[in-house]
Amino acid sequence: MIDRLDRRLVAVMLTDMVGYTALMQADERVGLDKRDRYMSALQSHHDAFGGTIVQRLGDGSLSMFPSSLGAVLAAVAIQRELAAHEVPVRIGVHVGEVIVEPERLTGDAVNIAARIESFAVPGGVMVSDSAYDQIKNRSDVDVVGLGRFRLKNVGRPFELYAVSADGIVVPDPWTLEGKGERFASLPSNLPDPGGPLVGRADDLTSLAELAREHRVVTITGPGGVGKTRIAIELGRLLAPQFLDGVAFIALADITEPGDFLPALADALDVKEAEGRTLGEGIATLIGDKKALLLLDNLEQVVSAASQVAELATTCPGLRIVTTSRTPLRIAAEWEYPLAPLALPPSSDPDSIESLMAYPAVALFVERARTIKGSFELTPENAGTVAAVCRRLDGLPLALELAAARLRLLSPEALLERL
Ligand SMILES: Nc1ncnc2c1ncn2[C@@H]1O[C@H](COP(=O)(O)OP(=O)(O)O)[C@@H](O)[C@H]1O
Ligand SMILES: [Mg+2]
Repeated sequence: MIDRLDRRLVAVMLTDMVGYTALMQADERVGLDKRDRYMSALQSHHDAFGGTIVQRLGDGSLSMFPSSLGAVLAAVAIQRELAAHEVPVRIGVHVGEVIVEPERLTGDAVNIAARIESFAVPGGVMVSDSAYDQIKNRSDVDVVGLGRFRLKNVGRPFELYAVSADGIVVPDPWTLEGKGERFASLPSNLPDPGGPLVGRADDLTSLAELAREHRVVTITGPGGVGKTRIAIELGRLLAPQFLDGVAFIALADITEPGDFLPALADALDVKEAEGRTLGEGIATLIGDKKALLLLDNLEQVVSAASQVAELATTCPGLRIVTTSRTPLRIAAEWEYPLAPLALPPSSDPDSIESLMAYPAVALFVERARTIKGSFELTPENAGTVAAVCRRLDGLPLALELAAARLRLLSPEALLERL
């Protein structure tokens, strides 16, 4: 039998006006006026970029373009025109095969375009990965990646992209909602640090920079210096750049190098399978995804360093940040020795405000307040508190333990006992 169906590979565009029904109920004249502007903007920019409107729905449209580029340029023009009249419209674009009939388009590509559009925000243009593929080398269209999504009733995961251009709304990747859900390839499971980070702004800036440039960054330093705390903060800071997940793996209880990969596999939910090692299973899961692994307390299993190195080499989009008392000594590694918190100099006594600007003092005072609500840094105790911080070398864990003793001791008594 001859296939008489008119099958074509096209860019499918779906649009819809947000809140149209409610608007019509509230004010019919305004509602109709906005709908007319919407329909006329659709028509004129489809004409300009070679698109064909196949269906006009009450408050939406289905159309096709010969190429993704035409569809995206038309979408941008439509949104710019509608923004001026405050007409809230969502637009989604996807490339795929459709069956063309008079006033009808059918095929998976249409359903997928509808899902893509459901993730768009008013004033924004959402494109699928296949539509993105056609425009990614164009210098005149900018897009931002929003991560991988599982679309409702669609077999494969989709990468979604938002067009970024003057006058076009780009959504926050983490608040996206639509028909489907974010496909987290790795668990995003940063622990709750339980309180604000004190100081460390410069360290964070440096670490964020290093994590961009090096596949493996090891934060080193003695126990209690704040390695875990800053690694958690770094994970939070970098999360928007690692949309496939930021996984935190606590390795404090792992003392046998042979237990490293099983612990990692367990955290990432990779199961033993025939015909592949656990390491291969983990590498397959991560693949080319943009993910961040935070390996906390690697010091007891530094001999597992070769496995870390192998993972870093096989997975191009992966970045690994570890905390350890000693560096791993692998080629891909950049060591970042974390210093204790900055201390006030022992010279002349400072004013209260300038003392509080030293993170070691700020942390001590903040912890002292949680122990003893009435605690305050005063001209009388300031010198003693500064001396306590210096005695403890600005080590956060030591500062916390010392502050806890203020329940029973005065700052002077505390200093004497240290
Ligand atoms: N910059 C900081 N701000 C607030 N609390 C901190 C800071 N650095 C460390 N801490 C706290 O000090 C303690 C020791 O820090 P931690 O990160 O566990 O050290 P490490 O991992 O180097 O052994 C923890 O309770 C942590 O929350
Ligand atoms: Mg730690």
